[in-house]
Amino acid sequence: MSVIDPIPRIETRRLALRAPCMSDATRLALLANDFDIARMTTRMPYPYRQEDAEAFLGRMETLDHAREAAFVIEHEDEGAIGVIALHPSDSFAPEIGYWLGRAYWGRGFATEAAAAVLAWTKSRWGRRALVSGHFADNPASGRVLEKAGFLYTGEVLPRHSEARGEPARTRMMVWLA
Ligand SMILES: CC(C)(COP(=O)(O)OP(=O)(O)OC[C@H]1O[C@@H](n2cnc3c(N)ncnc32)[C@H](O)[C@@H]1OP(=O)(O)O)[C@@H](O)C(=O)NCCC(=O)NCCS
Repeated sequence: MSVIDPIPRIETRRLALRAPCMSDATRLALLANDFDIARMTTRMPYPYRQEDAEAFLGRMETLDHAREAAFVIEHEDEGAIGVIALHPSDSFAPEIGYWLGRAYWGRGFATEAAAAVLAWTKSRWGRRALVSGHFADNPASGRVLEKAGFLYTGEVLPRHSEARGEPARTRMMVWLA
């Protein structure tokens, strides 16, 4: 473990971002067991079972906070509604990824969470660059990233999707603080 600060609680207008814990497993498994979520990500399996949530949360408990960060996105009335995370990537900077339960799409929550995580990335985590990639058939995520300040690099890569069981065209983006 590094001596970097642990995951803080970050408050936004409607949300709180906080460190994941094992007691989130049942709620996250319920929300994430949706092919239309998993197929837009590289790593999430479908079906997404309780044990998948527990494996994810187990990994989050031993994160090296200098290299990786993950937040549960909590809504003030609804409790946990999704996850946003920063992972090491093959590229020059960490990669941001996120998902929300379907019931919470279309209300600006992903944009609100991403903006807060980018502010923390710059001010507290000490990183000035992030990358991200969204599958070409997921324009909503591209829009979230654009609104948060990411730009398209022009690079389009085939990246494997665990849930699809095959690669998908992925439009790469970059954010510079
Ligand atoms: C992608 C996802 C996180 C978006 O969350 P959200 O809270 O609905 O996003 P926001 O409301 O903040 O913003 C969505 C934007 O996409 C736009 N959008 C939605 N569907 C769209 C579509 N089919 N084409 C183009 N834009 C679309 C919305 O209009 C909105 O943009 P606007 O504010 O300019 O109108 C959510 O749909 C999700 O969890 N999807 C499954 C997992 C996933 O895709 N993760 C990202 C992997 S890269």
